[in-house]
Amino acid sequence: MSEDAKVHPVKPDVAARAWVDRERYQAMYQQSVEAPEDFWAEQAQSLDWFKAPSVIRSTDFGPENVDVRWFEDGQLNVAHNCLDRHLEERGDQVAIIWEGDDPSESQSITYRELHARVSQFANGLKELGVGRGDVVTLYMPMIPEAAMAMLACTRIGAVHSVVFGGFSPDALAGRIADSSSRIVITADESLRGGKRVPLKENVDDALERDGTDCVDHVLVVRRTGGDVHWGSRDLWFHELVDRQSSDCPAEAMGAEDPLFILYTSGSTGTPKGLKHTTGGYLLYAAMTHRYVFDYHDGDIYWCTADVGWVTGHSYIVYGPLANGATTLMFEGVPSYPTHGRMGEIVDKHQVNILYTAPTAVRALMAHGDGVMDSSSRDSLRLLGSVGEPINPEAWEWFHRVIGKGNCPLVDTWWQTETGGIMIAPLPGATDLKPGSATLPFFGVQPALVDNEGNILEGATEGNLVILDSWPGQARSIWGNHERYVQTYFSTYAGMYFTGDGCRRDEDGYYWITGRVDDVLNVSGHRMGTAEIESSLVAHEAVAEAAVVGYPHDIKGQGIYIYVTLNDGIEPSDELKKTLTQWVRKDIGPIASPDVIQWAPGLPKTRSGKIMRRILRKIAANETDGLGDTSTLADPTVVDDLIEHRANR
Ligand code: WTA
Repeated sequence: MSEDAKVHPVKPDVAARAWVDRERYQAMYQQSVEAPEDFWAEQAQSLDWFKAPSVIRSTDFGPENVDVRWFEDGQLNVAHNCLDRHLEERGDQVAIIWEGDDPSESQSITYRELHARVSQFANGLKELGVGRGDVVTLYMPMIPEAAMAMLACTRIGAVHSVVFGGFSPDALAGRIADSSSRIVITADESLRGGKRVPLKENVDDALERDGTDCVDHVLVVRRTGGDVHWGSRDLWFHELVDRQSSDCPAEAMGAEDPLFILYTSGSTGTPKGLKHTTGGYLLYAAMTHRYVFDYHDGDIYWCTADVGWVTGHSYIVYGPLANGATTLMFEGVPSYPTHGRMGEIVDKHQVNILYTAPTAVRALMAHGDGVMDSSSRDSLRLLGSVGEPINPEAWEWFHRVIGKGNCPLVDTWWQTETGGIMIAPLPGATDLKPGSATLPFFGVQPALVDNEGNILEGATEGNLVILDSWPGQARSIWGNHERYVQTYFSTYAGMYFTGDGCRRDEDGYYWITGRVDDVLNVSGHRMGTAEIESSLVAHEAVAEAAVVGYPHDIKGQGIYIYVTLNDGIEPSDELKKTLTQWVRKDIGPIASPDVIQWAPGLPKTRSGKIMRRILRKIAANETDGLGDTSTLADPTVVDDLIEHRANR
């Protein structure tokens, strides 16, 4: 039986309660692409506008000019939409359930409490002189203050840039400098799996680097009470915020005013700060959250991502809160204190919707079905997957064991750049095929193209592009629109290029096959091979380095590094450890190499270009099909690399 043959049809009870059934999906999808102005004008009414938009969209995918604007003359405020407008109807409903790293710690925050706290926080930021358009960097643990800080920024029109708390001081410094942040919000330490990470110390380190003079204040939340060094620009969050008034009017922002910057890796250069704007992003995050997870009032919803990634932005904070949902935020890791933790959290808070990553599923699966015995998970109604392709085995295990065979599983394909989910089933409308993200969301027009950019029809495989704009799309790269145009719209003129490869089957279902560029996806974390390479070559022992991904049972992809040492440097296990530490320190633990192989030479074309295709095959132990190596400047280096390959 081929993979495609396995189908999980929509269940009648799921369809009966769903917002959208099969017929409605087809009708809405058709309208969304044939009459987008009408479709989106109507959808936009689900937000609360201070001034309703009259211009729905003006979008240009080039080639001369790339310019994307949605609802441009509308005015609204994101915090108002996520908080104020819910107060009358659901002020006493829980907005955020927080579950601590330690299973004995949790907290529930109602919409009324969240509104008051965000308003105080916003007034505190104002006291520090923060206003419309100022950039605030967040480097936070997974605690409610992270969501509050994001919302406080949006309330006063400041632009947040959340940097994942696992990034190194260097990585943090680069992002602070690139965005010219005036304020950094952090905590003394974060707590994950019982271990403490010195966030404040990392910020201190970062602010010693060049380009970070822009920072006037560091606001510190006390999380663990651990010792911190205190300087003149440091302020305790509680000392500033507790004394503020909880009355803070929400600024009327233009729909196209920037909402946040989020850095992500590409195939070249330093990480790019994607710029997301206010109206279109919020509408798209809210709509996708409502339809893809079929969210109804009263549902308890848990997305296991970190707010440092786009999934945390759109599906822990903005989408759920715009919909008046109860969203669970988890500080820790799924394996602590035991591997049963995820199921135990589901039981403890009676979670109905669980959205997680394939890597987490595979890590559990490796322990056998019994790993879920400590919980019943009877409250679950729907499962979701994001971040990387989910292999059919992991899909089936997630569905059968975690969901006990009762819950539809929505595999959601999207990117930092897309703002929200682009290709995914709707639970009441779409039959599921394990391993396929299935069909496009409303307004999304995917296509597959060959390497010359010709659109391919029917069941086929190619490069995934999107033909027209959708409201959640990133509008630019912060401070570098040219790079935005170059990265996304120049490979195939007039189309948004995703960087992913994809297959479409005879039912029109999309199967993402993974990146076709030099971007790695390690445990759902996106990383550029170029970033890791430039870190390595900065080490005095290294002459040259090439980084590729290879198939890894749990992580999806592992990081495989070929290193050519400088003359006179002896390879040793000690040096491997040193280089591993070097990369961890430079970028962060998520970039830790899995395998390092010493390479006396790298396979290069005569023009000096490294042939990554060959390196990928060697790393994957697929050395039978290396293809033509005769164009290499020195074909013998390949034999040496095969003989000494490190991944056996
Ligand atoms: C990959 C995360 C297959 C893909 C939301 C994409 C996926 C990159 C899926 C974006 C999925 C994400 N199936 N691949 N369901 N979801 N990807 O920006 O390669 O961190 O281009 O956004 O992750 O990663 P990012």
